[in-house]
Amino acid sequence: MKWLVTGGAGFIGSAFIRLALGSGWARRVVNLDKLTYAGNLENLAAVQDDPRYRFVHGDICDTRLVERLLEEERPDAIIHFAAESHVDRSILGPEAFIETNVRGTFSLLEAARKAGVARFLHVSTDEVYGSIEEPDEADETWPLRPSSPYSASKAGSDLLALSYWTTFRLPVIVTRASNNYGPYQFPEKLIPLMISNALEEKPLPIYGDGMQVRDWLYVDDHCRAIRAALEHGKPGEIYNIGGARALPNRRVVEMILEILGKPYSLMTQVKDRPGHDRRYAITTEKLAKASGWRPEVPFEEGLERTIRWYRDNPGWVARVKSGEYRKYYEQNYANR
Ligand code: NAD
Ligand code: DAU
Repeated sequence: MKWLVTGGAGFIGSAFIRLALGSGWARRVVNLDKLTYAGNLENLAAVQDDPRYRFVHGDICDTRLVERLLEEERPDAIIHFAAESHVDRSILGPEAFIETNVRGTFSLLEAARKAGVARFLHVSTDEVYGSIEEPDEADETWPLRPSSPYSASKAGSDLLALSYWTTFRLPVIVTRASNNYGPYQFPEKLIPLMISNALEEKPLPIYGDGMQVRDWLYVDDHCRAIRAALEHGKPGEIYNIGGARALPNRRVVEMILEILGKPYSLMTQVKDRPGHDRRYAITTEKLAKASGWRPEVPFEEGLERTIRWYRDNPGWVARVKSGEYRKYYEQNYANR
């Protein structure tokens, strides 16, 4: 298989490329990435000299570039990760989210339709369902009630992608995953932010009462699920991908502090996120039935692995936390 991956220099896309080449899932992988603040070629050091790998620096909104690339490479499938991915940034400045997540997805779909690409896997999120009351769990038919500009832009792009199957018979598959964690995650997201602040003994900002629930999925389990959906999924269908490990944020942060041997007193309650979803919960039965996929990495083990990685890679952390990150941190947390 020859794959075009978008957003492959980010957290999940880079894990997917490392696994795809490391495990021989693909014969060739082309990575199209704009290298925003979240894109980092250091994440791909393990594959940069692999003859089966090609990096293309570019924007998915650049229709001509995408069309040229599809003509040149003729991939069997597009796996579309590229997105603006952080909720807090979508509250501070939503425009880039509409541009990349909606317009960029449209540009890719159009190019894929013209080129007759045989599979288009659109990587989406459980956030499109919005907050879910206990004891419910959303399956793939659950109504869409996105709360943030980020999740609304993802819901919009999901619908657009599915319309390309209904209208044009472009074989689109949509996957909706829960909260990922693991090595190489940008330290704006809960787990890497708390690990890196705790390592520096800085305050750990807990939004509101910290009792919001998220379902944690180790990034490699997500990548294996995407491959399973590519192989066993049906065009026009949506597949939820959950970690089957729901925890309140405060408990996740306590576990990080316990593993690091740091005091709970580092936790600091700050003003809540506007429109904050209280609970995410999805069922993953559809993908399990279609492919046999199940998450393999228990949360305790994945968290230990992740913490070890951040401890062992202080250079990576220091580089991503310099420059733009400082400005963002100040903007998001200074007056909270
Ligand atoms: P990330 O922010 O770490 O990486 C995004 C990547 O996309 C970066 O490499 C960036 O440079 C690239 N990119 C952004 N705009 C681009 C553009 N216009 N053209 C080309 N490249 C562009 O994101 P992530 O956490 O790895 O998430 C990847 C995908 O998975 C996203 O679609 C996200 O919505 C989805 N998702 C993420 C999670 C999670 O917990 N992180 C969970 C479910 C779904
Ligand atoms: O559910 C899947 C989604 O998970 C993905 O689609 C998104 O790309 C990804 O960013 C993530 O969204 P969340 O908003 O759930 O993740 P985040 O890591 O930003 O926050 C997780 C929870 O932790 C959330 O309830 C907010 C809270 N939080 C987060 C940060 C950054 C804090 O309490 N303090 C913080 O400083």
